[in-house]
Amino acid sequence: MSKDQRNQHPNANLSPDPNTDRGPGPVPWIVMKFGGTSVSSADRWNTISEQVRLHLEDGYGVVVVVSALSGVTNLLNRLCGSPDSAQRDEIIGKIELRHSALWDSLELAPSALFSQLWQQFVALAGNRPEGRSPAAHAELLSFGERLSSALGASVLAPLGCVLQDAGRMLQIVEIPNQSDRQKFLASRCDDRVDSDLAARLAAEGRVHLTQGFIATDSAGATCLLGRGGSDSSAAYLAARLQAALLEIWTDVPGMFSADPRVVPDARLLQQLSFSEAQELASMGASVLHPPSIKPVQARGIPISIRDTTRPDQPGTRIEARSQSSEAQVKGVVSRNNIVVIEMDNPAMWRQAGFLADSFAVFKEFGISVDLIATSESTVTVTLDPDSSIEDELFSDFLEKLSLLTRVQLKTHCVSISLVGNAIRTMLGQLSGALDVFQDRQVHMVTQSANDLNLTLVVGEEHAEQLVQKLHSLLITAAADLRNDLGPSWLELTLPADVRVKSAPWWYERADALHGLMSERDSAFVYHLETARAAARRLQALDSISRVLYSIKANHHPALLAALAQEGLGFECVSLAEVLHVLDCVPDIKAREILFTPNFAPREEYARAMDLGVTLTIDSLHPLRYWPELFAGHELFLRVDLDAGYGHHKKVITAGAGSKFGIPIDHLPEAASLLAAQGARVVGLHTHSGSGVTHAGAWREQLQRLVPLLGQFPKVRVLDLGGGLAVPERPRQSAMDLEVMDQELHALVRAQNSALGSGREIEVWMEPGRYLAAESGVLLARVTQLKTKGDYHYVGLATGMNSLIRPALYGAYHHVVNLSALERQPDRRYRVVGPICESGDVIGEARLLPECAEGDLMLVSNAGAYGRVMSSSYNMRPPAEELILDS
Ligand code: LLP
Repeated sequence: MSKDQRNQHPNANLSPDPNTDRGPGPVPWIVMKFGGTSVSSADRWNTISEQVRLHLEDGYGVVVVVSALSGVTNLLNRLCGSPDSAQRDEIIGKIELRHSALWDSLELAPSALFSQLWQQFVALAGNRPEGRSPAAHAELLSFGERLSSALGASVLAPLGCVLQDAGRMLQIVEIPNQSDRQKFLASRCDDRVDSDLAARLAAEGRVHLTQGFIATDSAGATCLLGRGGSDSSAAYLAARLQAALLEIWTDVPGMFSADPRVVPDARLLQQLSFSEAQELASMGASVLHPPSIKPVQARGIPISIRDTTRPDQPGTRIEARSQSSEAQVKGVVSRNNIVVIEMDNPAMWRQAGFLADSFAVFKEFGISVDLIATSESTVTVTLDPDSSIEDELFSDFLEKLSLLTRVQLKTHCVSISLVGNAIRTMLGQLSGALDVFQDRQVHMVTQSANDLNLTLVVGEEHAEQLVQKLHSLLITAAADLRNDLGPSWLELTLPADVRVKSAPWWYERADALHGLMSERDSAFVYHLETARAAARRLQALDSISRVLYSIKANHHPALLAALAQEGLGFECVSLAEVLHVLDCVPDIKAREILFTPNFAPREEYARAMDLGVTLTIDSLHPLRYWPELFAGHELFLRVDLDAGYGHHKKVITAGAGSKFGIPIDHLPEAASLLAAQGARVVGLHTHSGSGVTHAGAWREQLQRLVPLLGQFPKVRVLDLGGGLAVPERPRQSAMDLEVMDQELHALVRAQNSALGSGREIEVWMEPGRYLAAESGVLLARVTQLKTKGDYHYVGLATGMNSLIRPALYGAYHHVVNLSALERQPDRRYRVVGPICESGDVIGEARLLPECAEGDLMLVSNAGAYGRVMSSSYNMRPPAEELILDS
């Protein structure tokens, strides 16, 4: 590497002047920790060697701390369970294979030390599992790191690397009354500066490698630092050596403003203060093990989070910085598997000592509390998700607590935290975001005493969408105005070839699209094959007997014809939609149309009955006041199951706040009114909302419908409505259809065998978005560009008059410059339309290649709820519709 290149090294500003002869004096140390994936391939070890070498060149001594090869700790954990001897041999075989494959790809032979350790491990693993104490578990689990460090020492041998036993460098702090489990499996270490250790290492060499995760007690027994504990090992060592820097090398390019798996456009946090990083890590950002910050913070040692797969990226730097007084949200982070305990005791009001008594029970069982909220008679707490407790002990704990107060337990919750500065002063700004919690049950809200976080605890089924929404409102929307935010995860990780590989249909068909648009300024284009493919995916589901297309999403005649050809039926919400289907699909039989009106006038019901379509009734009014219309007919009833889902509160269609459906307790009246007319209920229908990503939502609906079958002996069909979400952003994962299918299939089978012969239930679904959204794009030419204040605007020939979803729901639609597909994006634009409303924004802060007047811009996922919701506002007609059928 040339000197120029070295100056661009991400830690260049830290390097001592390489031209200065360092002379005698203490060695400045850098501690580098490499996680499981970072030590699992020959390529990564090349990176490790290279990075160590760079630090040596810069005059530092280096201590490398390694985790076990990825997956090995999980395998070891299984060994600590009670595998039978065949399972045990299989696990040992897998661990052996992981290591031998790596030795092979490194083109090295296992060292004598490694082979010796392997023998010890096999002997230990062969011991009978009964009676294995936490101490014995710790010993067994420590072999993951012992083996990987022996291997690493061989790889780094050419750099003069000395293998150090972590147990000789890190001693645990023994806490009185600590359980054996805590002591041996989740200890904390002494982090006082140890100049003897620094001197010993300096005397032995410049490069050392040691195991993460492992320490010893005063008697020399192996103790572990808990899951993710290698970060902590490295932090303790950095503190003890008074290092110049702690580097945490992992497989993501730093800490982000949200989990990139949930929010792919989460932004890199380039710089954080220790307390911000602590808060993010503690509240769920999994890149850094939370206990690893304190030891280095106390000595002002900066942390640099780096990516072993992208060593040229600067990552995130955490250092002592005066806390910015500016109120802003740094991240939206979440933690899963939260357990909420609600202690409700009306007598507690003004009763001295109630809290002390209750918490004494927590203490007795070693259960640590994480969040806490109190009211006059209720105390709600969440349990520290890191502290695990055995089931039996937990039942004893609950029993004992119940002696003092009424206890309610809620599991499978998620905590979502807004982390940032002066969060309290931001409550006004937060109100827009918190809006998304309307209609969701929020189990608890807490605000940290240090004013760094505001946390909401909700059911896990709502978590992803809430995180996405909060992130886009609180971070993406203002991202351009902040210089503390780096590029998005997508930008950092989306190399051009991946973009092509996972390309949507329009990427391949860009030329055809340009051709269609040669004389046009704007148009929706629908690719029929994409819609057909979606139909085939749904038709292939085992659990669903019939798929109806909900034409409100897009009623283009060519789309209806294509979906009819795939064998789909249709669901309509107005008489006009019914007539349109009869018109566009001449072969269709009227009864194959399901008509699901809501607050429609009487005439529409009367015409529907005359036409012979299948009618769904969603209110008692028609039954009470126009019963004669339904005499002798077969009908569906739409039930409000009181559990709504959806991408926005405006599209949640169940629950007391929604105008749809008949509540369960009104069903008996509906049944008797229909019976009086000799009408039969043959289907129960429900639809919880739209844009639902939670695969379990439909199972829940079915579980709630099934008990109603007893009231309606003629019911053959349970229609679970639509709602299936599609991914909105590039590389966002799709909803897991397979999980939904399996869950539904199992339930239907069980139900049909319970019903016995003569009665079989079919499950139907009626999606709109899933079939139409991805098949459509909105194309529009660039009209003008403008830079004003901090914003670069790119103006399109059409806007909210064609696509109102961003303005109405804050919906995300990906925007691409189709005239510059091969050019690197390099500027953030606010993408707007020509309508006289400040809300006419199609996309905020979109990274695009430089745009010019006349460029053709593409807005993706515009096939559903695009043109059908358009208007001619400002007397600007919406974009016309074109078909691409090849
Ligand atoms: N069935 C019924 C009874 C419905 O009300 C709806 C949608 C569907 C099926 C189809 O839902 P889908 O599979 O498309 O989610 N304009 C909003 C969506 C409103 C959906 C209204 N009902 C949007 O642009 O997101």
